[in-house]
Amino acid sequence: MKSIIMSWVLGMAFITGISAASAATIPDGMGALPTVVPEPANNPTTSDRVELGKKLYFEPALSRSGHFSCNSCHNLATWGVDNQKFSIGHRWQRGGRNAPTVLNAAFWSRQFWDGRAPMLEDQAKGPPLNPVEMALGSEADAISRLTEAGYEPLFNKAFGKNSLTFDNTAKAIAAFERTLITPNAPFDRFVRGEGDISAAAKRGMQKVADIGCTSCHAGPLFTSNDFVKFDYGKDHGLKSVTGKSDDEHVFRVQSWRNVAMTAPYFHDGSAATLEEAVKTMARVQLDTRLKNNDIADIVAFLKTLTGEMPQITLPVLPRPAGHALPWQE
Ligand code: HEC
Ligand code: HEC
Repeated sequence: MKSIIMSWVLGMAFITGISAASAATIPDGMGALPTVVPEPANNPTTSDRVELGKKLYFEPALSRSGHFSCNSCHNLATWGVDNQKFSIGHRWQRGGRNAPTVLNAAFWSRQFWDGRAPMLEDQAKGPPLNPVEMALGSEADAISRLTEAGYEPLFNKAFGKNSLTFDNTAKAIAAFERTLITPNAPFDRFVRGEGDISAAAKRGMQKVADIGCTSCHAGPLFTSNDFVKFDYGKDHGLKSVTGKSDDEHVFRVQSWRNVAMTAPYFHDGSAATLEEAVKTMARVQLDTRLKNNDIADIVAFLKTLTGEMPQITLPVLPRPAGHALPWQE
């Protein structure tokens, strides 16, 4: 009986595959966004951690001025980005790199354009202490702010007794970030045989495979998750981490998921439009001059990779009653 059910299931999957493929052949490797999000064994995505992490993500007490939160630069109302070339941080300073989206970041092999943080947990420890971002003086400052705000019971619920630590702050934020996934893009529905995409988008889909974009922007994530040379601009990329000359201008291949919503483009935010980014990529990475109609088709395809935003209820943050937290200049 079990095997009859299994063969029926497989048969249905096969038929569904055919119905999508009959409209246009989906190039090898492309597919719907994975539904299973990887998580490290030492930080399971429990609901208590996610709820705490959500508060911490919106928590301006993690910044010296009491003004900046993760959400300032990775705004979850605008696709996890600020749409700035370079983000605005402490005392209106701007850093030297464009803020990538936090959406689907749980799927990336390493975090940051140059991959200097292996995991979301490592990444989340950076911004609060970064002088041009949130500019806290020390980890101890973060802990005392959070303690005074009244976070202790929430940490104890999520991590056990006496657990209000900087490491657990990062763990909770990472657990929340693992819920920031954007399924059901028009392309995903198309792949599953549940919907169609335009003729222009289908031509674009074929084009990116034919000319080799998908050798780097590979698989259902539209990134191989590898680090490759992008000989463009002044930023040293991976070399600034390893010091190796081979790593000059090496960056992580950026995903195409939601790319239509995260302008401006590239690590230095230098491409204002998606058309320009596509044109530059073809020239620099593939030594190809694309015609305008090809660029338009590719952009039409990229727009089908915009998924559904996670619906987030704005959290209420713990606060002392009757006085404000001690912000600093
Ligand atoms: C002042 C703006 C700013 C703030 C505040 C900020 N970030 Fe970022 N974030 C950036 C920039 C810029 C980068 C890219 C830096 C780089 O690659 O060198 C980045 C990179 C990231 C990445 C890597 C994504 C990828 O594709 O590699 C994640 C994840 C992230 N930030 C999460 C957070 C979290 C969590 C917080 C709060 C604890 C936070 N950020 C606070 C600007 C900001
Ligand atoms: C050799 C590998 C490689 C190839 C081939 C390649 N790309 Fe890229 N792509 C990258 C890397 C690496 C980045 C990140 C660039 C950076 O650091 O600014 C990127 C970034 C992008 C971005 C900007 C993403 C963002 O969020 O800023 C777009 C759009 C893009 N590629 C489209 C394309 C298209 C279209 C093609 C084919 C014409 C293509 N790429 C071919 C490696 C590649």
